[in-house]
Amino acid sequence: MTSQEHILITGGAGYIGSYLAGELLRQGHRVTVVDELLFGGESLLSYFSDPDFHFFQADVWEPRAVRAALRGDWPTPTAVVHLAALAGFPACQAVGQQVAWRYNVEATQHVHQQAAEVGIPRFLYISTYSNYGLSEDGEPVTEDTFLNPQSLYAETKVASERYLLEQTNPACHPLILRLATVYGLSPRPRFDMIINQFVWEAFRHHKLVIYQRGYSRSFIHIQDAVHGIMLGLQAPEEKISGEVYNLGVPEGNLTKDEVVKLILKRLPKTLVRYKDITFGGDMRDITVSFEKIQRQLGFQAQKTVDDGVREILEAIQQGVIQNPSNERYRNARFIVQ
Ligand SMILES: NC(=O)c1ccc[n+]([C@@H]2O[C@H](COP(=O)([O-])OP(=O)(O)OC[C@H]3O[C@@H](n4cnc5c(N)ncnc54)[C@H](O)[C@@H]3O)[C@@H](O)[C@H]2O)c1
Repeated sequence: MTSQEHILITGGAGYIGSYLAGELLRQGHRVTVVDELLFGGESLLSYFSDPDFHFFQADVWEPRAVRAALRGDWPTPTAVVHLAALAGFPACQAVGQQVAWRYNVEATQHVHQQAAEVGIPRFLYISTYSNYGLSEDGEPVTEDTFLNPQSLYAETKVASERYLLEQTNPACHPLILRLATVYGLSPRPRFDMIINQFVWEAFRHHKLVIYQRGYSRSFIHIQDAVHGIMLGLQAPEEKISGEVYNLGVPEGNLTKDEVVKLILKRLPKTLVRYKDITFGGDMRDITVSFEKIQRQLGFQAQKTVDDGVREILEAIQQGVIQNPSNERYRNARFIVQ
């Protein structure tokens, strides 16, 4: 990126987007956020005083939403970071196939079509390692591993990826980042994902019920996830165009048991019960290889899961987030209601 660029973020009021918007503004860039505000817009309040920030409320499925969001007196954005989606398998499950497809696949198509038409040269699609499903042979999954989605959510993310990678329009180069599960605090924290949720439950109820204790998952701190997205914005075109990168770090590959140990270190009185039943959802038992993003984009993380547990716990203990069970911090409960 040059000194000042203009970046369009769809879903910029959400967990990842609100952190990314702040980081881009802090580095002197212009930011347009377009978001339907499914979970409110308080996450963006501190940015409105910045003349380099522009917000537009819209459903990005609407075929003209991206055009309408752009301010006429600003240059065309150099990149879109497409985050807007119904994020997570419970949210997709709750609304069903048709609505999930509308939000997660059709909206991606509409945003990419408009981005190409208005001449935005780069399109970052924020995907997920859920797309790999279960690792058949126990080997770390790489970007070339067969995709085996186990949930409606992952099916929608795979379909969006396929659509983008099939586009031959050279005007708008897609980059797919398959993120590990994110943890840590942001202006719109979420408490419906493993690390954040476990810390809250252990603190609030002094107990944790763990399913599939030996299963491996992959985790990345929000700050590092945003750093990885920034690398995708800065990298030369030949390193990103039509490319897929897993975004995470090897140290973030942990079993649920290992996560529990990190929580017990800080909340030792937590009663832990294990249940070995399997249930529907996006059952992942995966170790992910992050060799490509390290090698090609020089990605390195600053934070560990232990750091994340500490920061989340402090915010909750000190009453900064009074009720993480509130629907505004949980995608699925909001959707169900
Ligand atoms: N959080 C994670 O661990 C994680 C991991 C892998 C991938 N992802 C992907 O990253 C993206 C963002 O995730 P998040 O955790 O920030 O989710 P989030 O739910 O906190 O944010 C999503 C934002 O998108 C907005 N939105 C949804 N549909 C919209 C539409 N049609 N038009 C306009 N705005 C819309 C919502 O209002 C919300 O502000 C999603 O695409 C998700 O699949 C997230």
